Amino acid sequence: MCGIVGYIGPREAYPIIIEGLKRLEYRGYDSAGIALFDGTDLKVSKTKGKVVDLENRSEKEITKNGNVGIGHTRWATHGVPNDVNSHPHVSNSGELVIIHNGIIENYDSLKQELISRGYTFQSDTDTEVLINLIEDVKKQQNVKLGKAVQIALNQVIGAYAIAVFDKNKPEEVVVARLGSPLAIGIGENEDEFFIASDASPFLEYTKNAVYLEDEEMAVIRFHKGIKIRKIKDDSLVDTYVQKLQINLEQIEKGGFDHFMLKEIHEQPKAITDTYRGRLLRNEAIIKMAGVEDNMKKFLNANRIIIVACGTSWHAGLVAEYIFEDLARIPVEVEYASEFRYRNPVINENDVVIAISQSGETADTLAAIKLAKSKGAFVFGVCNVVGSSIARESDAGAYTHAGPEIGVASTKAFTTQITVLTLIALRLARAKGTISSSDFRQHLLELEMIPKKVEKALKSDANIKTIANVYKGVSNFLYLGRGYNFPVALEGALKLKEISYIHAEGYPAAEMKHGPIALIDENMPIVVIATKKGHYEKVVSNIQEIKSRKGKIIGIVTEGDTQVRALADHVIEVPETLESLSPLLTTIPLQLLSYHIAVMLDKNVDQPRNLAKSVTVE
Ligand code: AGP
Repeated sequence: MCGIVGYIGPREAYPIIIEGLKRLEYRGYDSAGIALFDGTDLKVSKTKGKVVDLENRSEKEITKNGNVGIGHTRWATHGVPNDVNSHPHVSNSGELVIIHNGIIENYDSLKQELISRGYTFQSDTDTEVLINLIEDVKKQQNVKLGKAVQIALNQVIGAYAIAVFDKNKPEEVVVARLGSPLAIGIGENEDEFFIASDASPFLEYTKNAVYLEDEEMAVIRFHKGIKIRKIKDDSLVDTYVQKLQINLEQIEKGGFDHFMLKEIHEQPKAITDTYRGRLLRNEAIIKMAGVEDNMKKFLNANRIIIVACGTSWHAGLVAEYIFEDLARIPVEVEYASEFRYRNPVINENDVVIAISQSGETADTLAAIKLAKSKGAFVFGVCNVVGSSIARESDAGAYTHAGPEIGVASTKAFTTQITVLTLIALRLARAKGTISSSDFRQHLLELEMIPKKVEKALKSDANIKTIANVYKGVSNFLYLGRGYNFPVALEGALKLKEISYIHAEGYPAAEMKHGPIALIDENMPIVVIATKKGHYEKVVSNIQEIKSRKGKIIGIVTEGDTQVRALADHVIEVPETLESLSPLLTTIPLQLLSYHIAVMLDKNVDQPRNLAKSVTVE
């Protein structure tokens, strides 16, 4: 879960790489490094800490000129975060240098082999083993760098996105990927090339991008272009250049203090962009090519298996409610990491929906590869265009949330629910399990959601006041019923991941089977108690909490009086259908966690120990 950046061309590489690393810091931020060829020699500077620490260090350590360079921001897997384990890593001869995102699983056996041949190692990393393996192949077999990389990678087990260059041949950079993302930006005049984990580091320079597929490598030569080959058999692959549709402004903060707050406020537009051209209320139809083209698969499916991780898994849980409720299709929601190793029963009559914002989450990617190998049809719901999961899926639908930079997922969650709701409604219509008046009402209500989200966002000041009351607690409980049980889980996750306060989400009725023991006057309990759904039952749950002096924060429908009379605080959201209520009830929970984290002076956009896309298992 690291970020890699590289440049070869006429410009100074240093500033491009440093700014690029800052854009990718959401991927990992425990150490950073850069390697440049300054015209005579290889210059490497690396340090524990953030990219700004690297800037300060490299200022003293290296000359910053040179037209070819590679840089890295790290999320440690092998070897603790320190200077020596930071990337780039240099081969024993000092000639070859590498940056790597991923994990080499058989690195120890390769290392022992190399040690037996006299190689020595400074760091504990798998990456240093790889660069010395490449060097050994290059020397032993007297081949060019590209060939040496290919041969070495065929001995490697694991995941990687790498960039390597040789100081004796600085006009050439070799890149390769398996499991970890790698994009190549091509300068307008094809006279310069940018290498990165995603397009954000080179968006301001070019919109022409090549996304390497799994098991592909490319040799990038200054003034000569790119040659892409299959790592397995060295066969040539056509270079497919995509024109990127996102712009720089989308990946800047736009006047907000944090990306997370910006992305929370972008949800009305993100939801609108996600149903635009798909929800056609006047014609009372839903049009989604990926669903239409595979309608038979969906309608003949024995069941739908949803695989995902984290917040995407919570969106999957909401989908379970709406698919079973409206389309009457049995759904199972699986943690991808468990599903992939549980030897699950899957067959060709199963439809697997994979949900992933980044489209790069290793466990979800592996889960869908497993499902495909057993004949299941895989439908991907991703936000990042051209991502691995999007390409691995048989068909899919993108959430049009735009780039999500904050590690804590917000607009991706609500746009995932929007896409899944559209699919469920379309299938319900096709199956005739929803009346046309109910169908129309759902289209109407869904179309009104963005305006209602804007209204919910207006409770920000009230939520900030509540956050100030509870910022000092060490535990929180979140309760919800039905469609809002997954929202309770999501609210707890948001608070945990950015404020580091322990929090648990529970089905409200489940409270009596244990968690109620935690409740006393020091325990704040967020209870989602909107009118539609199991309102009366939730009210009695609130009374049970109240009788144990728990502090109640009620998420209620505008104009609610009953819960207002019982709760210590209420946050109102506009009324909507129960099946659409998660799109509104999640908003105050996002803001509550955000304000508490800011008040606790936490790094909201880059919480400790986390990264935006988890590309290793
Ligand atoms: C959510 O805020 C977290 N960033 C994390 O749980 C995330 O949802 C999970 O890693 C899945 O990521 P994906 O949607 O990119 O696959």
